[in-house]
Amino acid sequence: MTEIRMRVNGAAESLDVEPWVSLLDALRDRLGVTGPKKGCDQGACGACTVLADGVRINACLALAVQYDGKEITTIEGLATGDDLHPLQAAFIRHDGLQCGYCTPGQICSAVAMLAEHRAGMPSAVTERSGELDEAEIRERMSGNLCRCGAYNGIVDAIKDVAG
Ligand code: FES
Repeated sequence: MTEIRMRVNGAAESLDVEPWVSLLDALRDRLGVTGPKKGCDQGACGACTVLADGVRINACLALAVQYDGKEITTIEGLATGDDLHPLQAAFIRHDGLQCGYCTPGQICSAVAMLAEHRAGMPSAVTERSGELDEAEIRERMSGNLCRCGAYNGIVDAIKDVAG
């Protein structure tokens, strides 16, 4: 067992984990933070996406011990008091979901994606860094799958917030 300390959604947490425990399992099973979802558990679906020091990661592929000292933000940490994060509100306005299972990961990913774009980071695949049009949003969000196929609403919500 290794003791690790993290800030999770602004709260200081300390927990003992075996070296093989994923960050996703540590969040869900040890800390009761169940917003990040386990879809594939192998880095293919994005349902487990969280922010680590503002960077989006697949928590199922991350070992908890690697995140000692980090600031972890999940869907539970995005709202400010009673005010939803603008992306949360936009997903509701634009019906960017059906069953909702992928939504926490979609929104965390979109938060980081918009920050990446604003910082001028090019898309990893297209190497474009231009206007955040529909094609660019779809490319930059391609790591987050929606089995219900709510992609049109997801893209519209992101475009709305991107301005
Ligand atoms: Fe982590 Fe699918 S559960 S990518």
